[in-house]
Amino acid sequence: MEGFLASEKYMRRPLVVGNWKMNGSLTSNSHLLKAMQSCPAIEGCEIVICPPSIFLTQCLAEVSNTRFAIGAQDVSEHKVGAFTGEVSAAMLAELGCKYVIVGHSERRQFHCESNGLVARKAARALDVGLIPIICVGETLTQRESGLTFHVLAEQLDAVLNVIDTDVSSAFVVSYEPVWAIGTGKTATPEMAQDVHSMLREKLNIKRPNLGVDTRILYGGSIKPENAAALFSMPDIDGGLVGGASLDGSMFMSIAKSASDFGS
Ligand code: 13P
Repeated sequence: MEGFLASEKYMRRPLVVGNWKMNGSLTSNSHLLKAMQSCPAIEGCEIVICPPSIFLTQCLAEVSNTRFAIGAQDVSEHKVGAFTGEVSAAMLAELGCKYVIVGHSERRQFHCESNGLVARKAARALDVGLIPIICVGETLTQRESGLTFHVLAEQLDAVLNVIDTDVSSAFVVSYEPVWAIGTGKTATPEMAQDVHSMLREKLNIKRPNLGVDTRILYGGSIKPENAAALFSMPDIDGGLVGGASLDGSMFMSIAKSASDFGS
């Protein structure tokens, strides 16, 4: 199997992140989090929920004293000031968030977020001790034109050129092929592994061992049925889950699969 040594995988704790996107209500959030917590405890996997920002306080309260952590779906590139509608990294950290997603393809596509902006957001998160989950991914047209590796390298390099990469495990990378998000089409485990291996190589070029330490997630139509095959790949350390994170037992089944391939 291509990629890094299997033993290196066990140095990285599996991580499964539920991106709720713009879904939920006070009542349904509470039910969903309770449904997740009523599933058998999963020891070997870190579990993070990213609700819409309006629900962060509620979700933080609901998961206090549990193993679940909370992350935001986006953050401002600015520190503070007259930026109507924006939420700063310091605000998220003060609330108790541990993670924040940056550069999700829906932000890149619908809000015209550039590689430079994504990099500045990641840097803001790191400044206050939040762990950015840096999303990269190619469109179908880019894949069919043979541009996948080029596009992903540009997206990752833009961030690596701005953030301080001396702090290992301070950030997470998530490969989300745009054509696989919400479409039911998943990259095959081998396709995803090829990309993850390339991303890890790039991290290692930036700093020796950065690739060995950094968790790289896969996202795009992950379901309980395909999770195990994806997570068995040597360079896939967990998942960023959209639709299936809105179902407590499906999401926890995915987390269990990630845990089975962890330490
Ligand atoms: P789906 O799992 O619904 O395809 O969404 C993936 C995603 O965008 C997670 O951030």
